[in-house]
Amino acid sequence: MLERFGHGGDLRTAQELYGIEADRYLDFSANMNPFGPPPCVAEVLRNYADQIGRYPDPAVRGLRRKLADHHNVDEASVLVGNGAAELIDLAVQLLKPAVTVLTAPCFNEYGDAARKCGSRIRMLQLEPQAQFKLTQEAILSLLKQLREEGTAAGQTLWFLGSPNNPTGQLIEPELVRLLVREGEIVAVDEAFMDFVTDTDCWSLLREAASCTRLIVIRSMTKFYAIPGIRLGYLVAGASLVRAMGELQIPWSVNSLAQLIGEAVLDETDYGDQTIKWLQTERPWFVEQLSALGLLVYEGKVNYVLFQIPDRFGWSSRQLQHALGTRGILIRDASGYEGLNGSYCRSALRFREDHVRLLGELRNLLGKPAE
Ligand SMILES: Cc1ncc(COP(=O)(O)O)c(C=O)c1O
Repeated sequence: MLERFGHGGDLRTAQELYGIEADRYLDFSANMNPFGPPPCVAEVLRNYADQIGRYPDPAVRGLRRKLADHHNVDEASVLVGNGAAELIDLAVQLLKPAVTVLTAPCFNEYGDAARKCGSRIRMLQLEPQAQFKLTQEAILSLLKQLREEGTAAGQTLWFLGSPNNPTGQLIEPELVRLLVREGEIVAVDEAFMDFVTDTDCWSLLREAASCTRLIVIRSMTKFYAIPGIRLGYLVAGASLVRAMGELQIPWSVNSLAQLIGEAVLDETDYGDQTIKWLQTERPWFVEQLSALGLLVYEGKVNYVLFQIPDRFGWSSRQLQHALGTRGILIRDASGYEGLNGSYCRSALRFREDHVRLLGELRNLLGKPAE
């Protein structure tokens, strides 16, 4: 199975499974900005390669300062990590919640981090009929259950993705505020928030800077297409940031990652071009997938969740495999808790890539499953 190690973008596993060389796939399985890393990334690697001969700044001062200015928050509220993945883990390690509430579906790392520290997991099922939106009703009902079971405020961590992966749905900030007012602790993973145009209406990052019960995590991987360098950051109240920093492995953010992080924040043209591409390409791709008879879910980000209706007779696993042998990778979303074998996730790429994928889909879905 392509998601053997739990994630998309695993080209080595694809090569083992489908026999095509790793660098020859058209990869829709990882939600990466198709423009690739902005030019400044290569410049940093060229100009600062000698930094490898020294230890990185253990306090990541340059990048923290720059992130703080970028988001207009206090530097003491920013922690940089070895990808958002490290910060997800650190948040759970620090809080050691008795209970962790997750939505089904959601990014698998939240549950993995919670299980590692012995936290009890409560799943909140999101409904396809409601476009997988988290509702106030569902939150209040679970809160009531938790209280009836004797779980006091502050013993539960709500780990929520906004935009959620794999659904692409955003969470109404008011729902998170409600949880915080109720005394709950909330971590919001905003790994894909840079792709959202009206970020100010959706992001809780600035509020997190002055809150003791709210953590917001961001990834630099997706938007800047730098998954190999490992870079993410979180924003939370200064005392939480200090405590998580103490748990962090020394020098977990290498020197080149720190410099790349500083450089990409200045790439405003790259950001504008990405948003412009997404605004054109997403509606077009969604329309074309729907025209093939696939059921596409709402979302605002650089990936789409879609369902293969039963009448086609194809499962997501079969479709992923058939496309894989033709050099195209999509995500079989049935590995996400709460989704069955009819769900797939595809990243958005450029028009010619979409045309190739759509052509293969049209061809395959018109025939019996392989
Ligand atoms: C929702 C979500 N959060 C966090 C991450 C991890 O990002 P990073 O590469 O910054 O560790 C991913 C990676 O796929 C993701 O999908």
